[in-house]
Amino acid sequence: MFKGKARAYTNIALIKYWGKKNEELILPMNNSLSLTLDAFYTETEVIFSDSYMVDEFYLDGTLQDEKATKKVIQFLDLFRKEAGLSLKASVISQNFVPTAAGLASSASGLAALAGACNTALKLGLDDLSLSRFARRGSGSACRSIFGGFVEWEKGHDDLSSYAKPVPSDSFEDDLAMVFVLINDQKKEVSSRNGMRRTVETSNFYQGWLDSVEGDLYQLKQAIKTKDFQLLGETMERNGLKMHGTTLAAQPPFTYWSPDSLKAMDAVRQLRKKGIPCYFTMDAGPNVKVLVENSHLSEVQETFTKLFSKEQVITAHAGPGIAIIE
Ligand code: ADP
Ligand code: DP6
Repeated sequence: MFKGKARAYTNIALIKYWGKKNEELILPMNNSLSLTLDAFYTETEVIFSDSYMVDEFYLDGTLQDEKATKKVIQFLDLFRKEAGLSLKASVISQNFVPTAAGLASSASGLAALAGACNTALKLGLDDLSLSRFARRGSGSACRSIFGGFVEWEKGHDDLSSYAKPVPSDSFEDDLAMVFVLINDQKKEVSSRNGMRRTVETSNFYQGWLDSVEGDLYQLKQAIKTKDFQLLGETMERNGLKMHGTTLAAQPPFTYWSPDSLKAMDAVRQLRKKGIPCYFTMDAGPNVKVLVENSHLSEVQETFTKLFSKEQVITAHAGPGIAIIE
């Protein structure tokens, strides 16, 4: 019997990963850059044993159906191949983050599973290799191997596409990300299907590709010079562009809801009042507001008044993957 357990934190992209050039290997069209956060995470245990006849996947105490388990089985197969064994496994995972709601459960979930498999099968993969493996489960998961600011190098093949930490002189410690939970239910269009539809059909997708490198350059400059305004403006612009591409997809779709617009507007109003803060959104209606710790209380106050206390969760920069027990 081989057993391993790991904890990985979610990450939110400041420069988004949006589109694949290779679906099977999960090679992205563009580099992306994220912040790993401390408030949301996944803990996963995996046990490989000859006493299991099939792979089973428990999420939050519930045995998952065939569709959800299939993704996990394909991921386990990568590790079985690497270790040269064929034992079936039981995966027991707990998400301390709503699942499939645009809060990056796939990032923490697949990163935690990668870490657990690495330990269980004693593969001894270093963090860069672990990042490559996590990428095969869900692209954004490759960034959750590391803490703080993380860049995913798109690369050109399986070996060259992985994430790595971005030197930042602890700039991330000055920052907070306030999550405005507008809806924590499973979204209608998954990130996987949403980005595929956009790449295949959106006339705006080329515009995204043409400008994302420039955004990434500016964002890295902002980290280097600890320029919060540049960081926030670049993040907000990049996120809006990503969401713009979905409107021109065929059929068109959007992750925004009326409450998302309300939250975005509140961020703009705060800025007008001289409080620097900026928003980003992923494949779901929830809005994430980036702010310096020095202005955190004003942002928290505004959003708890506008929504409810339960809908506002504050995160700070989080650590990389941890092996537990
Ligand atoms: P999210 O915004 O939460 O990342 P996605 O639609 O991108 O939403 O991904 C959700 C999918 O990620 C789930 O349907 C499931 O396949 C996978 N996932 C989420 N949590 C876990 C976990 N703890 N272990 C394995 N897979 C997970
Ligand atoms: C909008 O990593 O969930 O959150 O690789 O298909 O599993 P797959 O997609 P996923 O997509 C994340 C998309 C995003 C932007 C980002 O996190 O960079």
